[in-house]
Amino acid sequence: MGDKPAPRTALVTGATAGLGASFARRLAADGYRLVLVARDRQRLTTLADELADRHGVTVEVLDADLATDGGVTAVADRLRSVDAPVDLLVNNAGIGLNRSFRRTDEADELRLLRLNVEAVLRLTHAVLPGMVQRRQGRVINVSSVAGFGPLAAGSTYSASKAWVTNFSESIDMSVRHLGVRVMALCPGYVRTEFHERAGIRTSGSPTWLWLRADDVVADGLRDLARGRAVSVPDWRYKTLATVVRHAPHGLLRLAAGRPKSRE
Ligand SMILES: NC(=O)c1ccc[n+]([C@@H]2O[C@H](COP(=O)([O-])OP(=O)(O)OC[C@H]3O[C@@H](n4cnc5c(N)ncnc54)[C@H](OP(=O)(O)O)[C@@H]3O)[C@@H](O)[C@H]2O)c1
Repeated sequence: MGDKPAPRTALVTGATAGLGASFARRLAADGYRLVLVARDRQRLTTLADELADRHGVTVEVLDADLATDGGVTAVADRLRSVDAPVDLLVNNAGIGLNRSFRRTDEADELRLLRLNVEAVLRLTHAVLPGMVQRRQGRVINVSSVAGFGPLAAGSTYSASKAWVTNFSESIDMSVRHLGVRVMALCPGYVRTEFHERAGIRTSGSPTWLWLRADDVVADGLRDLARGRAVSVPDWRYKTLATVVRHAPHGLLRLAAGRPKSRE
């Protein structure tokens, strides 16, 4: 009998809730060693203990605020480790805001950009050289269908996700021939803590719009294995994304303008 292959290591940001926790659970079940990142150390430790007990995998926790320079630097340093390299980076942590741009604080908008954009850029930049050198590695950047077009509600959010999708696809084009892949995962509405944290009311949205985090993660990992650079889970959102990507821009603006809930 040959030796078992060495376990791969995945680092997941925003691992304490929602999509990040689903990624952590699924990757642990698949035998990955994990590095879990979020701000709440207690929640990180509870999840790490649960996954180590259930799946017998090694789980590191790294409490870091990725909207701060120090937090991103600490995680970037971990990603550059030569002794314990990371094979899969999931840039998942992200936030939205519940007001239109006119009514938000500049500080909140900048915090969103630091987390949704700057952290994704810096962590991808930190992990890629090692991956390219080893001729293997994967990055999943969690984006959103909200990035496919303009949105009056949460305008900085949709702009940040447009950046994430374009960035991921562009970087993928530049590293694919070197054995490394970068994929943008673009879900629609997912039942997580996201909307509650942002103070966004969801009572008016139809139930059929909502996806389960575990299904989004399963679809995303399947698309990654298939070599997709952009993954849109669920046929309803695939259809929506196709329409949005090909619709006349004027029509998009009409459909996406002025929601009262976030005025
Ligand atoms: N839910 C949706 O409908 C939806 C749709 C499309 C895309 N997305 C995207 O999916 C990703 C995950 O969102 P989710 O829905 O799973 O949200 P969630 O349930 O609110 O979870 C967010 C996670 O990010 C962590 N986090 C928040 N701020 C952080 C910071 N400054 N530094 C480090 N970690 C931080 C949170 O943990 P701590 O509080 O402990 O830090 C938590 O683990 C986001 O990028 C979001 O934009 C969500």
